[in-house]
Amino acid sequence: MNVQKLTTSFTNQYGNNSSDIRVFNAPGRVNLIGEHIDYNGGYVLPAALEFGTTMLIRERNDNEIHFFSTNLPFTTSIKVSEIGSSKTGEWVDYPIGVMVELKKAGSPVTKGYDILIHGEIPNGAGLSSSASLEVVTAYGLLTMEGGNIDTVEIALLSQRAENQYVGVNSGIMDQFAVANGAKDHAILLMCDTLEYKHVPFQTGSYKLIIGNTNKRRGLVDSAYNERREQCDRSLSILKEHVPTLQYLAELTPEQYQELETHLGEDVLKNRTRHVVEENARVLASVEALSANDLNTFGQLMNASHESLSDLYEVSCTELDVMVEEARKIPGTLGARMTGAGFGGCTVSLVHEDDVERFVKEVGTAYKERTGLDGEFYVCGVGDGVKEWNGEE
Ligand code: GLA
Repeated sequence: MNVQKLTTSFTNQYGNNSSDIRVFNAPGRVNLIGEHIDYNGGYVLPAALEFGTTMLIRERNDNEIHFFSTNLPFTTSIKVSEIGSSKTGEWVDYPIGVMVELKKAGSPVTKGYDILIHGEIPNGAGLSSSASLEVVTAYGLLTMEGGNIDTVEIALLSQRAENQYVGVNSGIMDQFAVANGAKDHAILLMCDTLEYKHVPFQTGSYKLIIGNTNKRRGLVDSAYNERREQCDRSLSILKEHVPTLQYLAELTPEQYQELETHLGEDVLKNRTRHVVEENARVLASVEALSANDLNTFGQLMNASHESLSDLYEVSCTELDVMVEEARKIPGTLGARMTGAGFGGCTVSLVHEDDVERFVKEVGTAYKERTGLDGEFYVCGVGDGVKEWNGEE
C-alpha cells in the first residue's frame, strides 16, 4: 500500500486539503482449515493476510457521499438521506449496504464524505475482497462519526450487509477474520457462540503459499446456497433423533457414525460427514500447531481437501490440479483449496528452500494441464482492520 500515491489520487479526484484525510486498512483472509463450517456452527481457523483494502476518507461540507475506486471505473455520489434507496449492482453496494446496517444499529452516517477505495485483493479469488471492503467501511465510518468500535459487532454488521443488501448468504467467518485478525496468529473461531482465540501461527522454515487458480468462482452463489440448504435438511432430519441438536458441527464423528443411517440420501450423508469430520480436523490442527507439529497439520490440510472434493463437492478441476501439483514438490507438507470453492485459491505449506521451485513447477504444470496462468503469493499473516498509523 503506497499511501502517498493514494493521497495524490484522492486529491486529484476530490481537490486539496490532504491533511484532513484519514486512512484505514482491512486485510483479506485465508482460511487455513475448517471449510463450510461457519454456517454449521463449528470451528474455523482463518488468518488475516498482509494485503487488503484501503479506504481514504475526508469529511465534506455538505451531505453528499462520494465514492471513487482506484480499481474499478464506476464512481457515484449519493445524499446521506438517500442511503440504501436504490442498488447499483456495482461495488458501491458493499459500502452502501454497510451504511444501511450502521443506521439500523443506531450509528447512522450523519455527514457527507469523500471516499477513495483501493483494493489489493483479487476479486473473485476467494480471499474475501468483499468482506474486507465491508469491514474497512464500517470501521472507518464509525471512527469518523465517533461511534463505538467493537470489532465483533463490526463483523456481524458487515455480514448482515452482505446477506441482506448485497444478497449473498455467507457465514460469519470472512468478516470476523478481517475484523479480528492479529499478526502471526490464526483465529480459532467458534461460529455458534463467536468465542475466539488467537493461536500463534509459527511455521518456522515453512511458508504459506496461496495459489490463485484464476478460475473465476462462477457457480459459487447458487452452489453455496444449495450446500446450505442440504445441511439444513440433514439437521432437521437428525433433530428428530437428537432434539437438542442445534448445528451439525455439534456432533462428534463417533456420534455421527451412529446417526448416519437416518439421513437416507447419500448426498446428505456426504455433506454431513464432511461437516462433522472437518470440524474435528480444525481442533486437531490447533493441537498440532501448538505442539509445533507441522507434518500433522499438513496431513489435516490434505484430508480437508479430499473431503471438500469428494464429500462436499465444492472443488473443481483447476483446484484439484493445483493441489495435486503442489503435493509433488518435496517440501510441501500439505495443500488444499481454501474458501467457498468452485475456483479461487489453494493454500499450501511449503519449506522455504522449495518456494521458488514450487512457484515455477506448479505454475508450469498447472498451465499445461488447464491452459490457465496461476498466480502465487508467498504470504505472512497480518493484522485485522485498523487506522493507518503513518508507517508504510
Ligand atoms: C465463503 C463464505 C464463508 C464460508 C466459506 C466456506 O468464503 O463467505 O462464510 O462459508 O465460503 O468455508
